[in-house]
Amino acid sequence: MLIRSLTRGRTKSVIDELLNKHRRPYSTGAVRRLEGKVALITGGASGIGKATAQEFIEQGARVMIADKDSLLGAQVARELGSSAQFVECDVGVEAQIEEAIKGAVDEHGKLDVMYNNAGIVGALVPPGVTELDLDEFDKVMRINVRGTIAGIKHAARVMIPRGSGSILCTSSISGLMGGLGTHPYTISKFTIPGIVKAVATELCQNGVRLNCISPGPIATPLVVTQIANYYPGATYQQLVEIVNGLGKLKGTKCETIDIAKAALYLASDEAKYITGHNLVVDGGFTCFKTLDFPSPDQIV
Ligand SMILES: NC(=O)c1ccc[n+]([C@@H]2O[C@H](COP(=O)([O-])OP(=O)(O)OC[C@H]3O[C@@H](n4cnc5c(N)ncnc54)[C@H](O)[C@@H]3O)[C@@H](O)[C@H]2O)c1
Repeated sequence: MLIRSLTRGRTKSVIDELLNKHRRPYSTGAVRRLEGKVALITGGASGIGKATAQEFIEQGARVMIADKDSLLGAQVARELGSSAQFVECDVGVEAQIEEAIKGAVDEHGKLDVMYNNAGIVGALVPPGVTELDLDEFDKVMRINVRGTIAGIKHAARVMIPRGSGSILCTSSISGLMGGLGTHPYTISKFTIPGIVKAVATELCQNGVRLNCISPGPIATPLVVTQIANYYPGATYQQLVEIVNGLGKLKGTKCETIDIAKAALYLASDEAKYITGHNLVVDGGFTCFKTLDFPSPDQIV
């Protein structure tokens, strides 16, 4: 009896020990999830990038906001406080990305997280493929694809020698299904998961992780200004509601914070074994289509 209860006591302490071992400090809220990390976010002056900068800072990171909009970028950095800094950077110009990363390393001694998030949609209603303006195509590819690969290249240069780092990119649901965006935008966003797969293969040999996030529609300036052209008389609030109504998951909507939280996870050590992944944050939008059957009364 005594032996059994002793054994039971020991079993309980072993279980407690195991539970404690697997209880992560971050689940208590005591330790911030990016404590001591240095991140650079392109397109960090607005929308998804801004929300991610704020989230990263709240979780203990120092963040370099790299954006081509110097007015807004500087203002956002001031808003976010002393852990945020702004660097003017057009991701279409490789030297400017290199310089921004060098600035982060000079300032903080390292770069732990690089988020290639800046993107453009391009012309609203370009002609169909037979009339496709290849200069317009090049413009979108230059920012969305070339800008992303340049960011990966220069981040990898500083991360490989340290044997660690997390690189993120923003793709889109337009990179998962045709017909959701213009041809240049859709093709550019389809390319991002391809870059991730190709380059993660190489970078995993150096301990550097590379992932992308594919958001659903969010009412950021990028989208709201785009659809404003379709609804010339609509108020800003009406446009926001139109975008929010595009989701499929009942009772909620896609917000910048949802992408920021996904980025936080992939950037943090919680995702230490995740690389080459495309994290789709779309409330199920791209996981189904419904068959458009006629109703029985339409048949008889
Ligand atoms: N909002 C959405 O519905 C949605 C959905 C899927 C993917 N995305 C992608 O998310 C990313 C961020 O978009 P957002 O919705 O936050 O838009 P946003 O307009 O709010 O922010 C984009 C930021 O990128 C900056 N930027 C644009 N071109 C740049 C360049 N050449 N160099 C540096 N910075 C540049 C802008 O100045 C702006 O601050 C984009 O890649 C976009 O394609 C957005």
